[in-house]
Amino acid sequence: MPVTVVVGCQYGDEGKGRIIDFLARNADLVMRFQGGDNAGHTVINDQGRFQLHLIPSGIFNSKSKNLIGTGVVVNPDALLREIDELESSGIDTSGILISNRAHMLLPHHRILDSIDEESRGSHSIGTTSRGIGPAYRDKTGRTGVRIGDLQHPDYLKMRLELQLKQVNLILSNFGKPLVEIDSLIEQCVGWATKLSERIVEPIPLIKDAIQGNQYILLEGQLGSMKDLDWGTYPFVTSSNPTAAFASVGSGVPHHYINDVVGVAKAYQTSVGEGPFPGELLDRIGDRLRDIGKEYGATTGRPRRTGWYDAVAIQHSIWLNGMTSIAVTKLDVLDEFEEIKICNAYQLPGGDIIHYVPDTPVFEKVTPILETWPGWKQPTTHVRRWDDLPQEARSYLERLQELAGIPISYVSVGAEREAMFAV
Ligand code: GDP
Ligand code: IMO
Ligand code: MG
Repeated sequence: MPVTVVVGCQYGDEGKGRIIDFLARNADLVMRFQGGDNAGHTVINDQGRFQLHLIPSGIFNSKSKNLIGTGVVVNPDALLREIDELESSGIDTSGILISNRAHMLLPHHRILDSIDEESRGSHSIGTTSRGIGPAYRDKTGRTGVRIGDLQHPDYLKMRLELQLKQVNLILSNFGKPLVEIDSLIEQCVGWATKLSERIVEPIPLIKDAIQGNQYILLEGQLGSMKDLDWGTYPFVTSSNPTAAFASVGSGVPHHYINDVVGVAKAYQTSVGEGPFPGELLDRIGDRLRDIGKEYGATTGRPRRTGWYDAVAIQHSIWLNGMTSIAVTKLDVLDEFEEIKICNAYQLPGGDIIHYVPDTPVFEKVTPILETWPGWKQPTTHVRRWDDLPQEARSYLERLQELAGIPISYVSVGAEREAMFAV
């Protein structure tokens, strides 16, 4: 059986959740491998309409296990809230498991996130304010506290004391109330009671799945253009949403991963600050936002919009070793007379480049656009490649040519059924 990784090719919100929900109908194990509740993965299926933040989008297959993997930072309150919401919609949540090695995102990480953003002033990143950066900072700084620590009270207390030493120094510097260890431990006791049955050693579980020839899906958060190392640094997240990290963040050895599906919108959007070449600040951009309902699933912020950027996609395909792309939201382009694709960038001196340069240069590039005729008819009902209007097929064929890898899926609506394999 393949191990499939699903990652975003662009700046996040490509429709990863809906692709995972579709593929997970046959999955035995679905795992998130990075990020935290900055994610907003929308799933619309016969069980309802859902926004998932920490819980893998395979949760609607009651036969599948859904593991929040080691590379994720977990806000226990957010997780418990999400479990409650799913249960109140009648969803079976017994398959939700958490790696004992996943780090805890604690309430003070959110406060630190807003302090960080305020300190950056006009250079703010526009984070989701979920505390992601500070939680990963504690992890890499070796002051992190892990979910498994909840099961070892003395050890937990020692780890929290170490973390709070530094955290309280920062909070006092910025005139914020300090974190009291006793009240934090009290909260931890509550989380331990509610979560302990879901906390697992991930490797035996993963080995069993691989040796039992089960279908494993690894669900990325965000997209390659906001990767900590290869995205538009510093306007990025604090983890690697790219496929190489799927192995690190899940515990599946990389040589088992033989299928990497990159999800790409038929145009592009981004939330937050940072370079976004070809941003459409005109009526066309507003139309894309209105028709595509481009408002953040986590923060409700309007998403920035632009035409499909094939250079950014090529960057992602290379970095992720993608084997195919899934093109989503084709239907959003149904009414446009003309559709454009960026196929290269022009530097201020006039030179043309075909790669994503580092941020100070990327901020200054001008996209080179090619124009394709629109199909001006609905596609939402289409379930076969051959039934797409000829102009839509030509547009997708051009995306495939620029990608250099096949298109494996096309999605023409937000509901589970509104997509097909190519
Ligand atoms: P994710 O973070 O990558 O899972 O994507 P989001 O859920 O944040 O954003 C994708 C948005 O587009 C959601 O509102 C989806 O319901 C919606 N969506 C996904 N695929 C399609 C599609 O093919 N057509 C349309 N019209 N909407 C879609
Ligand atoms: P999904 O998984 C879109 C963006 C934020 C900001 C930057 C850093 O739904 O695609 P962070 O809170 O991670 O420190 O913010 O990354 N961002 C997202 N944008 N979709 C997401 O998740 C995002 N998660 C973070 O807007 O620019
Ligand atoms: Mg999203």
